Amino acid sequence: MTRLKLAILISGRGSNMEALLQAAEDPGYPAQPVLVASNRPDAKGLETAASAGIATAFVDHKLYGKDREAFERALDAILEEAGTEIIALAGFMRVLTPWFVDKWAGRMINIHPSLLPKYKGLHTHQRAIDAGDAEGGCSVHWVSAGVDDGEVIAQARVPIQPGDTEETLAARVLVEEHKLYPQALAMACQRLLATKPD
Ligand code: GAR
Repeated sequence: MTRLKLAILISGRGSNMEALLQAAEDPGYPAQPVLVASNRPDAKGLETAASAGIATAFVDHKLYGKDREAFERALDAILEEAGTEIIALAGFMRVLTPWFVDKWAGRMINIHPSLLPKYKGLHTHQRAIDAGDAEGGCSVHWVSAGVDDGEVIAQARVPIQPGDTEETLAARVLVEEHKLYPQALAMACQRLLATKPD
């Protein structure tokens, strides 16, 4: 079976990345991890990926100052070198330029900890609690020009309980993220594979 070469971009802990790596241990899974890359040299997830035998890299965004595109061009060179066919952003905390988004359009997905289109950006769980929402959740979506925008592939919902804090809700949602992301990535791969020329 055809498996798409997967690069996972992280900035920190990498627990969603780990969930994707675990799913991809199944040879029937439609993505094969070829690279885990970070914008932070000290991202914990880089160690986890290396221990799992996956190639890792980092491009320190701080070296590029305000020139986001120069940072992305350096990252892009590494992604191309690895033969990347699909990118999964997994807690990658950099806003992307139109150049990078256009280049990977239709081949890049993201996980966001809210029920999009609600609560794009940061502090999603606190905003859901403050709004008195009955539910929180997470979304996996195709990446397009706007921040946390783009067509939703799949979502998971959790109840918001009395007394929930940002931390307790985040922990409950994270459990769902780890189940949702592998499923949504598989759906994204199937869509790409269905349109991919031989
Ligand atoms: C996850 O909760 C993910 O949804 C969120 O960062 C966390 C990363 O955790 N992403 C965003 O907020 C992106 N806008 P992880 O490094 O353990 O996967």
